[in-house]
Amino acid sequence: MSMLEAAHENDRELEGACEGSLACSTCHVIVMDVNFYNKLEDPVEEENDMLHLAFGLTPTSRLACQLVASPELDGIRLKLPAATVHFKVDGYVSKSH
Ligand code: FES
Repeated sequence: MSMLEAAHENDRELEGACEGSLACSTCHVIVMDVNFYNKLEDPVEEENDMLHLAFGLTPTSRLACQLVASPELDGIRLKLPAATVHFKVDGYVSKSH
Protein backbone atom coordinates (compact mmCIF):
# COMPACT_ATOMS: atom_id res chain seq x y z
CA MET A 1 0.00 0.00 0.00
CA SER A 2 1.29 3.45 -0.85
CA MET A 3 1.28 6.28 1.64
CA LEU A 4 -1.33 7.97 -0.56
CA GLU A 5 -3.60 4.93 -0.30
CA ALA A 6 -3.00 4.78 3.45
CA ALA A 7 -3.87 8.47 3.77
CA HIS A 8 -7.13 7.99 1.90
CA GLU A 9 -8.05 4.91 3.93
CA ASN A 10 -7.55 6.98 7.07
CA ASP A 11 -9.47 10.03 5.84
CA ARG A 12 -6.39 12.24 5.56
CA GLU A 13 -6.81 15.18 3.25
CA LEU A 14 -4.18 14.38 0.67
CA GLU A 15 -5.41 14.95 -2.85
CA GLY A 16 -3.73 12.53 -5.26
CA ALA A 17 -5.43 13.93 -8.36
CA CYS A 18 -3.79 11.55 -10.85
CA GLU A 19 -4.25 8.51 -8.58
CA GLY A 20 -0.58 7.68 -8.50
CA SER A 21 0.30 7.89 -12.18
CA LEU A 22 3.02 10.52 -11.66
CA ALA A 23 1.10 13.16 -13.56
CA CYS A 24 0.62 15.70 -10.76
CA SER A 25 2.19 16.90 -7.53
CA THR A 26 -0.95 16.99 -5.39
CA CYS A 27 0.24 14.10 -3.21
CA HIS A 28 3.34 16.05 -2.13
CA VAL A 29 4.38 15.25 1.42
CA ILE A 30 7.37 16.20 3.53
CA VAL A 31 9.19 13.45 5.41
CA MET A 32 9.73 14.85 8.90
CA ASP A 33 12.77 12.77 9.87
CA VAL A 34 15.79 12.67 7.59
CA ASN A 35 16.68 9.19 8.90
CA PHE A 36 13.43 7.86 7.45
CA TYR A 37 13.93 9.90 4.29
CA ASN A 38 17.29 8.21 3.80
CA LYS A 39 15.65 4.76 4.02
CA LEU A 40 13.45 5.48 1.01
CA GLU A 41 14.25 4.33 -2.49
CA ASP A 42 15.53 7.23 -4.56
CA PRO A 43 12.80 8.96 -6.56
CA VAL A 44 12.60 8.04 -10.22
CA GLU A 45 13.06 10.79 -12.79
CA GLU A 46 9.30 11.20 -13.31
CA GLU A 47 8.78 11.75 -9.57
CA ASN A 48 11.54 14.35 -9.51
CA ASP A 49 9.94 16.11 -12.48
CA MET A 50 6.60 16.32 -10.66
CA LEU A 51 8.22 17.31 -7.36
CA HIS A 52 9.73 20.33 -9.07
CA LEU A 53 6.16 21.52 -9.72
CA ALA A 54 5.17 21.13 -6.07
CA PHE A 55 4.48 24.10 -3.82
CA GLY A 56 6.88 24.40 -0.89
CA LEU A 57 9.42 21.84 -2.03
CA THR A 58 11.88 20.81 0.71
CA PRO A 59 14.99 18.58 0.75
CA THR A 60 12.85 15.76 2.18
CA SER A 61 9.84 16.17 -0.10
CA ARG A 62 8.34 13.13 -1.81
CA LEU A 63 5.19 12.12 -3.59
CA ALA A 64 3.07 9.97 -1.29
CA CYS A 65 1.84 7.78 -4.14
CA GLN A 66 5.40 6.62 -4.67
CA LEU A 67 6.13 5.70 -1.05
CA VAL A 68 5.27 2.10 -0.30
CA ALA A 69 4.68 1.17 3.31
CA SER A 70 7.13 -1.36 4.71
CA PRO A 71 8.25 -2.50 8.16
CA GLU A 72 11.38 -0.32 7.87
CA LEU A 73 9.15 2.74 7.62
CA ASP A 74 7.17 1.97 10.76
CA GLY A 75 6.98 5.28 12.64
CA ILE A 76 7.58 7.55 9.65
CA ARG A 77 5.92 10.95 10.00
CA LEU A 78 4.77 12.85 6.94
CA LYS A 79 3.71 16.48 6.88
CA LEU A 80 1.39 18.04 4.34
CA PRO A 81 2.75 21.21 2.74
CA ALA A 82 0.94 24.47 3.47
CA ALA A 83 -0.60 24.37 -0.01
CA THR A 84 -0.61 22.31 -3.16
CA VAL A 85 -0.71 23.08 -6.82
CA HIS A 86 -4.30 22.13 -7.46
CA PHE A 87 -5.31 19.91 -10.33
CA LYS A 88 -9.00 19.39 -10.83
CA VAL A 89 -10.17 16.06 -12.14
CA ASP A 90 -13.70 14.95 -12.86
CA GLY A 91 -15.71 14.42 -9.73
CA TYR A 92 -13.04 15.35 -7.22
CA VAL A 93 -14.08 17.81 -4.52
CA SER A 94 -11.05 19.29 -2.84
CA LYS A 95 -10.87 20.07 0.86
CA SER A 96 -8.55 22.47 2.59
CA HIS A 97 -5.90 21.09 4.97
FE1 FES B 1 -0.41 12.33 -8.81
FE2 FES B 1 0.96 11.15 -6.80
S1 FES B 1 -1.17 11.29 -7.08
S2 FES B 1 1.73 12.04 -8.60
